[in-house]
Amino acid sequence: MCPGVAALELNVSCPNVREGGIVFGTDPKAAAAVVREAKSHTKKPVILKLSPNVTDIVTMAKAVEAAGADVISLINTLMGMEINIRTRKPTLGNITGGLSGPCVKPVALRMVWQVAQAVQVPIIGMGGITSWEDAVEFFLAGASAIAVGTANFMDPAVTMKICDGLNDYLVQNHIDHIQDLVGKIELG
Ligand SMILES: Cc1cc2nc3c(=O)[nH]c(=O)nc-3n(C[C@H](O)[C@H](O)[C@H](O)COP(=O)(O)O)c2cc1C
Repeated sequence: MCPGVAALELNVSCPNVREGGIVFGTDPKAAAAVVREAKSHTKKPVILKLSPNVTDIVTMAKAVEAAGADVISLINTLMGMEINIRTRKPTLGNITGGLSGPCVKPVALRMVWQVAQAVQVPIIGMGGITSWEDAVEFFLAGASAIAVGTANFMDPAVTMKICDGLNDYLVQNHIDHIQDLVGKIELG
């Protein structure tokens, strides 16, 4: 079934729809139930995408790992809002909406690092990555792969530039494989 699909990513964290994924994405038991249900219907790897709109991201990550998630991806967007001071109305149709891009990077990096300490499954890190330097930070924090969203709106060629920059960084630092960077943050 669906031979071209390598894995399924469950977005239990969309903040942009009323009564949407955010309900599952902020409740560890509900997120775990979604993972279990999905796993019972597919043999493909299930990636669970976490919301940053929680107090304790580690509890969420542990819950979905225990439920069988093969990979965890994070972060989705942070809840934000904006008000037009002339009309005094919210700018967004849904009043609140997802905040992404460079401003969320420190939050995303912190959460990737925290989750990497707590789970065994691989992590796909994202949130505000706009350069190869950002990408290196996510690998060092514990991501095994990265994703780039908002930066594509600013520069559609950004992912190619990030790949080129990563390649140069590896060569210059005599690192054989990108996986050799994963989790190699030095705290001492
Ligand atoms: C316009 C837009 C649409 C998005 N749509 C989705 C979506 O459908 N499903 C999803 O899981 N995440 C969605 N996201 C979240 C991104 O995949 C990503 O997790 C988040 O924006 C943080 O990464 P970034 O700062 O690189 O964009 C969307 C983000 C943006 C900006």
